[in-house]
Amino acid sequence: MMPTLSRTAAQFALAIGFAVGFAAAAAAQSSAEPVERPVSYSSEQADRGKKKYIKDCVDCHGENLKGGLSGGAPLRGLVFEEKFFDGLPASIIFAYMFSTMPPDSPGRYSPNTYANLMAYILKRNGFKAGAPLPSDFDALDYLIMEK
Ligand code: HEC
Repeated sequence: MMPTLSRTAAQFALAIGFAVGFAAAAAAQSSAEPVERPVSYSSEQADRGKKKYIKDCVDCHGENLKGGLSGGAPLRGLVFEEKFFDGLPASIIFAYMFSTMPPDSPGRYSPNTYANLMAYILKRNGFKAGAPLPSDFDALDYLIMEK
């Protein structure tokens, strides 16, 4: 009787020990990682992005970003928001643009230029200006698409 009991108690204590150790490890790990925060961009980025947009994107996506003469998807409105906003990381739309736009030569701009274009799209979608938008995927992963 006694040996069984104490073995159970020992197992229980061991399990608690694991749980506490695991929680402590998880806490230590999460405090070392950057914190998620809402996405932002600088007004200068949006201004530069607008110039580029008018030059290279407007024919397909339109001056009001609702779709243009050459058949690009709307870059404003519910469908667009549900696809790329709604609390998703900023890296998703950045990666999409980088790897697919403009369709005839995707990835042809510098990461900074893609960040400028994204800043302009954010501005036209009602996001507020603030800290500049980064142009590397790791940093963009921690920015949340939330107004
Ligand atoms: C030749 C026409 C054309 C040009 C130029 C063009 N796009 Fe597009 N773009 C499209 C089409 C078509 C789609 C939809 C693709 C799909 O859904 O498969 C699209 C999709 C997008 C999307 C995603 C929209 C969504 O709802 O999925 C973004 C963001 C975007 N383009 C940004 C840009 C930017 C920024 C530029 C300028 C550098 C640009 N595009 C230039 C045709 C174009």
